[in-house]
Amino acid sequence: MSQFELDPTATSTPPEEIARALADPGFGRYFTDHMASATYTPDAGWHRLVIEQTKPFEMHPSAGVLHYGQEIFEGLKAYRRADDSVWLFRPRKNAVRFAASAERLSMAPLPPDLFVDAVTSLVDLDRAWVPAPAKEQSLYIRPFEIASETFLGVRESHEYKFTVIASPVGPYYPDPVWLWATPTFTRAASGGTGAAKCGGNYAASLIAAGEAKQHACDQVLWLDGAEHRWVEECGTMNILFITRDGELITPDLRGTILDGVTRDSLLKLAPHHGLRPVERQIGIHEVATRIASGEICEVLACGTAAVVVPVLGIRRPGATLDAHDITLPVADATPGPKTMAMRGHLLDIQYGRADDPFGWTVRV
Ligand SMILES: Cc1ncc(COP(=O)(O)O)c(C=O)c1O
Repeated sequence: MSQFELDPTATSTPPEEIARALADPGFGRYFTDHMASATYTPDAGWHRLVIEQTKPFEMHPSAGVLHYGQEIFEGLKAYRRADDSVWLFRPRKNAVRFAASAERLSMAPLPPDLFVDAVTSLVDLDRAWVPAPAKEQSLYIRPFEIASETFLGVRESHEYKFTVIASPVGPYYPDPVWLWATPTFTRAASGGTGAAKCGGNYAASLIAAGEAKQHACDQVLWLDGAEHRWVEECGTMNILFITRDGELITPDLRGTILDGVTRDSLLKLAPHHGLRPVERQIGIHEVATRIASGEICEVLACGTAAVVVPVLGIRRPGATLDAHDITLPVADATPGPKTMAMRGHLLDIQYGRADDPFGWTVRV
């Protein structure tokens, strides 16, 4: 039984219009009819839990989020199966990460049960917006929390607003990607907010995405903030390396990268594909050397929006200031077989085409 009061709109989108949106949803272009929301105040805790028509916010221009950036968010998906049932993938992991992000940003943490309740109830009400399983489409769900108190002064807000919106989507990166190992910018430092999913991390990353484009790359490959030496993650994805001797290596979690749900899922699926999961620091020099020798035979990036994306190569600047970029094509720049097998396996679990021995999928 949901704790959210349902206040459905009297003017839902007509089915023909939903069908038009679902025919070619793109990413984040269309939004469903409803949103879930909750308000936090110190006296009442989380209250005013409601699912109602998606509509603009009204807030005072001094609201904390607009000045001091207290904002966190999540991203997860609902999948329609061939039998028309609708399922979420590991929503509790997102809920727990959301509460951890709130703690890091000194915000009121939302209890994970309420998070899962909000997401489930919203998807249930807007299930007409969940695309058919063809073409890897799904309903992307965006829970977020903002500081809503009216005040100025650098301190944490005492009031917060939690909201969930949803958008039908196709694949985020339809094609394999090239990565740019930026020598200029860093995403996170030890003791910073790298492990939190907060808007500020993404605002600070956009300039590096521009630099990646200038070097004909699709995404940034972040290196550590202290030495620009250790591989961390991509702009919106974690990164993994497959070696000829059967290791699936990914940077370990030391507070500077996101603890990705997809990353964790691939580490757990690895043994089913003859791979040993290894979480450890890996340097860009090791990556370059072992790609060149063929010991690293596949590179992949992963995230909820992007699923699993083959990395075709990594570009990084030369050792001297005016040296040309060094291009490191991975295994003849073709998507690797293990990458594609793990990608297919994950999607098959998400769409209910394969067994789910881990109990990751949750029916709406
Ligand atoms: C910076 C960053 N790293 C990694 C990920 C992958 O995380 P997940 O698999 O939970 O979507 C994301 C996507 O949310 C991200 O934004």
